[in-house]
Amino acid sequence: MARPNPFTPNFGSEPLVMAGREEIIAGMDRAFRNGPGDPRLTSIFIGARGAGKTALLNAVPHIAANYGWVCASATALPGMQEDLFQRARSQASEFLEPTRSSRLTGVSIGGALGLEWENRDQGLGNWRTKMYGILDVLEEHGSGLLFTVDEVTSSIDEMILFAATFQHFVRENRRVALLMAGLPNNISSLLSNKSASFLRRSKQYRLKRISDADIARAMLQTVNDGGRSIDCDALNAAVAASGGFPYMMQLVGFNMWEAHPNADAIVIDDVEEGIAMAAQDMRSGVFASTLTDLSEGDIAFLRAMLPDEKVSLMKEITNRMGVTSSYASQYRLRLIDQGVIGERGRGRVAFEIPGFSDYLREVLL
Ligand SMILES: Nc1ncnc2c1ncn2[C@@H]1O[C@H](COP(=O)(O)OP(=O)(O)O)[C@@H](O)[C@H]1O
Ligand SMILES: [Mg+2]
Repeated sequence: MARPNPFTPNFGSEPLVMAGREEIIAGMDRAFRNGPGDPRLTSIFIGARGAGKTALLNAVPHIAANYGWVCASATALPGMQEDLFQRARSQASEFLEPTRSSRLTGVSIGGALGLEWENRDQGLGNWRTKMYGILDVLEEHGSGLLFTVDEVTSSIDEMILFAATFQHFVRENRRVALLMAGLPNNISSLLSNKSASFLRRSKQYRLKRISDADIARAMLQTVNDGGRSIDCDALNAAVAASGGFPYMMQLVGFNMWEAHPNADAIVIDDVEEGIAMAAQDMRSGVFASTLTDLSEGDIAFLRAMLPDEKVSLMKEITNRMGVTSSYASQYRLRLIDQGVIGERGRGRVAFEIPGFSDYLREVLL
């Protein structure tokens, strides 16, 4: 009988086994242990589509929970503040009255705690005041409140308002934390907004490619946890094709599993089939939108990398572009920032997103 596929190639879905990222996770654990004052309690995850920002954002509330913190999560969209307030209130009531709220899911606001809040809320409609009501009750119980905001953008007024209010909480030494995630361009424009300028002092994590060793470990464990095995050469091929990129790892894994779901072992033919399918999904899921976000200068730089097999020399890119080296360096930095390319030693760069160079060859040449 075919076993259910344990891979999760969907944006935002929690991987069964998290590859790499140990340092970030350990740092967040330290941050909650240290409590207010630890700069990591205001952190931003920055990276390309599919780099694993949302997965990390979703992993941290579990860590926070170990230290008795509750979490309110939202996406940066109009209504996000009300959303965060509602989440915070229901998470807090579940935390403080676990039996009651599990019996009365959704109506726990009528409980003693809800009344307590309602009294504190009376007539004070403003968001900041309402949040103080929740924070007061949480802090009385030694708890704290973690906000997570995904798909951050500065084009939402509420995002800026929220950031400004959060700054007040921090200044007042409240037990709060804020984790955000977003694409590099969106984060840059948020940080350049005057009203959100305090976020420039936050801890910024640029999500880099995951090492092959970590990808191999996670793939093997995912396959085994799913109840199957994988040949050694098959695993190596799957890891190489993943290119350290989480979304690609899940796509390759998912599709190699589907090739012959009834077999006990995954073999090299399954992986080859899986890689071909994965490449198709990367086009629609990652490549097309990544290209749309690039400027003309970015594209000119990438075009000048295409004649090279894997690694490009800055000297050659500059020549091919016919520009000065300082001009080319500017675009080098921009593209590294966007997670599209990465450094490979002094004066060398390579593509960071697996298969993107092949895609560009197709659409640009
Ligand atoms: N560290 C990781 N190890 C394994 N899979 C991961 C990891 N991070 C993310 N993924 C998987 O990769 C895909 C993209 O992750 P996601 O967090 O949605 O990316 P982003 O938010 O950066 O676009 C999802 O299928 C997710 O399950
Ligand atoms: Mg995401």
